[in-house]
Amino acid sequence: MQISTLLKQRLATALSKLTDDTDELAQMVRTTQDPRFGDYQANCAMPLKQRLGQPPRQIAEQIIEHLDVGDICEPPEIAGPGFINFRLRQDWLAKSTTALLSDDRLGVDAPASPRTLLIDFSSPNVAKPMHVGHIRSTVIGDALTRTFRFLGHNVITDNHLGDWGTQFGMIIYGYKHFVDQAAFEAGPVAELVRLYRIVNSLIDYHNAVAELSHAQASATLLRKEADAAAEMAQEMAAKPQAKKLKKAADSAARKATAAAAQVRSLQAKIDAVEADPQLAGRAAEHPGIANAVLTETAKLHQGDAENRQLWDRFLPHCKDEINRVYQRLNIEFDHTLGESFYHPMLADVVDELKQAGLARDSEGAVCVFLPQFDAPMIVQKKDGAFLYGTTDLATLKYRDEQFKPDEILYVVDSRQSDHFEKLFAIAPQMGLGHITLRHVNFGTVLGEDGKPLKTRSGANAGLEGLLDDAVAAAMDAVCDPQRTAKLDPPLSETERQRIASVIGHGAIKYADLAHHRTSDYRFSLKKMVALEGNTIAYLQYAYARTQGILRVGGSSEQAVCEAAAEIQPIEPAERALCVALLRFPEALQQVADDYAPSALVDYLYDTARKYMVFNDNCHVWKAEDEQTKASRLSLVVATNRIIRGGLSLLGIEVVDRM
Ligand code: ARG
Repeated sequence: MQISTLLKQRLATALSKLTDDTDELAQMVRTTQDPRFGDYQANCAMPLKQRLGQPPRQIAEQIIEHLDVGDICEPPEIAGPGFINFRLRQDWLAKSTTALLSDDRLGVDAPASPRTLLIDFSSPNVAKPMHVGHIRSTVIGDALTRTFRFLGHNVITDNHLGDWGTQFGMIIYGYKHFVDQAAFEAGPVAELVRLYRIVNSLIDYHNAVAELSHAQASATLLRKEADAAAEMAQEMAAKPQAKKLKKAADSAARKATAAAAQVRSLQAKIDAVEADPQLAGRAAEHPGIANAVLTETAKLHQGDAENRQLWDRFLPHCKDEINRVYQRLNIEFDHTLGESFYHPMLADVVDELKQAGLARDSEGAVCVFLPQFDAPMIVQKKDGAFLYGTTDLATLKYRDEQFKPDEILYVVDSRQSDHFEKLFAIAPQMGLGHITLRHVNFGTVLGEDGKPLKTRSGANAGLEGLLDDAVAAAMDAVCDPQRTAKLDPPLSETERQRIASVIGHGAIKYADLAHHRTSDYRFSLKKMVALEGNTIAYLQYAYARTQGILRVGGSSEQAVCEAAAEIQPIEPAERALCVALLRFPEALQQVADDYAPSALVDYLYDTARKYMVFNDNCHVWKAEDEQTKASRLSLVVATNRIIRGGLSLLGIEVVDRM
């Protein structure tokens, strides 16, 4: 049971004796950070001041008079202007934490009304190498899946693979012109990646050449304007309008800098090709490559036999490549229905939209105009091609018919929010208003320089290379022989490998999930595997301590759970740990309310820290008496279960020794 829910229910009953409309007021229960103010605090007396025409402290007194929480809390206290502080009773803590030993749901109640959620996540565009940007959707989506399932909801997962887009036109074109047959036979994925890169850089090259002179001209102009603005600001520095001019000069300078950066980036794309004679030769021979790629894509979509055959040949290899990553990260999907699956349905969707009066022709294209948006959603281009949005509309219809979800979560980059806003606006007009649609958006992964993390080229590029690096970093940081010298028996090579693997892969997930999904975060392998701070290594260490304690005394989780000795929260460290353990259901609720696993990460870190304080202050095997020893053993195991359970919801395994 969630403690806060329990308190809210009791509070609602008490409030109803004083006023009506108590729903919102009863929700005003928070956990406290400072133990002097108890464990929970209600702030509902203050907002009642106007309504009841009394000082809040007096109101708080009346609330308490009607409040029946004696079985859970010490008598509530009033603090400050009218806060009501709750301190959980020791016997209640004892009983509730002990119950964790035999509760596979770890204190989490079944939901009153289970929902069916469909989670669309990972969904990479295959045929190009998977990179770190794909990690976020995959890791967040998987953690949400596990958490909602644990909470008792029905979750269906679907990997909406980008298996039909222009990137296939690119590799088809690449294959027709640049393939190295022997290399393709020997390692098709590597060869396809190579072809993708060639075509991509040629397209970039021609685009850059086309844009360069314009970009240069505009950069020069902006630089001149910026200089003039700076000069003006300088001259007028003593005048009243100085501040405004300075601001204008700064803004002009920023624009000039951005324009110069744009020129450099275009130049870099040009240089990258020109520095390589073979690539430069290809660029010269394939001036119209961008359009040619679109033609190949269109031919594929129109059922051209050769392109279709190539696609059939390439796709399994592309899938193998991403499946390897999923396997390493222990990620599974119920369905992998890629964009290609919906292709046969797209023409009907467009017809239906037209018939319903939702879509109409506009300059040759078919568009859905939405009053609240500047631009329409294009569902069919002039040349007959369907678009990303068309596929998403078809997908939505299919999912409704097939899976009957109450809610669909799209775990996709924030940069696609415009697309989803339009999709969600159209859906109810297509009769799909009964499904709650949610864009679970997320920010960008940045490099240590604060810029979007680029995939490195070369041998260790791509997501797999990154995973290898993380495992290596974990090996260095955590399995360092000096650090692990105390372990008895010493770690075997197999154990070291497993620890590095669990912590390396766990680090990638944990570091990502530790940041609220909507914020960008900086990717730093070194920080991710560090033993200090909010890291997976710290958490694993705390977990390994719980296992270590059991091991040295020759005990086991099972034995302690069977003995089920009552936990006695007597020392402050014991009490604080008990309260933390009982907050697990609240942490999961927070994840569910905000679709953000970071709440669970914060919770686990806080719990691990409280455990380490307990570990440093309270002996287990050398406890003063048998009862204390048994109580502490129970507490160690309860902690062990919560940490392992919590990490498993993040998709992270544990190690028993480190
Ligand atoms: N394949 C898309 C991309 O990589 C993401 C797809 C997300 N899901 C969806 N139903 N649109 O950008």
